[in-house]
Amino acid sequence: MIEIKNVSKCYGEKKVVDGLSFSIKQGELFGFLGPNGAGKTTTIRMMIGLLKPTEGEVWINHLNVLQHMKQVQADIGVVFEAPNLYVRSTIRENLNLFASLYSLPAGRVDEVMESLQLQDRSSFKVSQLSKGWKQRVLIARALLHQPRILFLDEPTSGLDPNTAALIRDFIKQFKQAGTTIVLTTHDMIEADELSDRVGIMYNGKLVAMDHPQTLKSTYGKKELRIEFMKDGQIVIKKFPTDGKETAKQVYDLMTEREIVSIHTKEATLADVFAALTGSELS
Ligand SMILES: Nc1ncnc2c1ncn2[C@@H]1O[C@H](COP(=O)(O)OP(=O)(O)OP(=O)(O)O)[C@@H](O)[C@H]1O
Ligand SMILES: [Mg+2]
Repeated sequence: MIEIKNVSKCYGEKKVVDGLSFSIKQGELFGFLGPNGAGKTTTIRMMIGLLKPTEGEVWINHLNVLQHMKQVQADIGVVFEAPNLYVRSTIRENLNLFASLYSLPAGRVDEVMESLQLQDRSSFKVSQLSKGWKQRVLIARALLHQPRILFLDEPTSGLDPNTAALIRDFIKQFKQAGTTIVLTTHDMIEADELSDRVGIMYNGKLVAMDHPQTLKSTYGKKELRIEFMKDGQIVIKKFPTDGKETAKQVYDLMTEREIVSIHTKEATLADVFAALTGSELS
């Protein structure tokens, strides 16, 4: 569905995206992770034709994005971190304007407003809305023309946990309906929960790309954590689950000390991120 062929972007001397090549299948949810400044937004802007690559090409649905902007745009919906709504207009006016650009049938705006629970606020000016509500309007706008591909750049960043969960539920619904989705996020739990495949970007390059579970077993370490009493204090000790020494050390600890708790901690995507990008986790 999306093909990125040897794409680079330079600003002056600086190569901010460096020779990316990968593809995203139809119906796949691709989670794009990486520290601030890694080049994720720049890559997405090139994917949707907003920015011309210095080198390379992006193809969406067998069309070269820059050569077939209009056709490609009919297929995609975009939610970006910087809101670009008409702030002096109401929610309904914003959505109506977009609907008319795409010549959508009357009623589509109401349908989308209902699914995002925006009706009660339809006559609010966008300037009066909080960040989370603006985000809902942006998502509503991106969905109006029922795109087959959605690009979501940090859709839940800065939202309260309930609103973020609501937006994640929407993302899951679109995925179930077969929408291909490219998502960037700094929330590792969100990336793990939603993504079929995760790409980790660092200094303009993809340093890993795989299913979250595969990444966790490749780069993350499971560990055994034991809390025990020593001189009247609780002490925590961590052991590798696969270390040869672990069995003996745990045995010694269990015979010599009063154990408070024992549990294993699974590797997380945050561990993978830290291993690959030097803990530059936001
Ligand atoms: N118009 C521009 N001119 C010069 N440099 C730019 C421009 N746009 C982006 N950059 C630089 O390109 C690099 C990648 O930026 P980008 O916004 O793609 O990062 P990101 O991975 O999306 O980061 P974040 O997690 O903070 O959103 C950064 O170093 C940024 O300063
Ligand atoms: Mg960004």
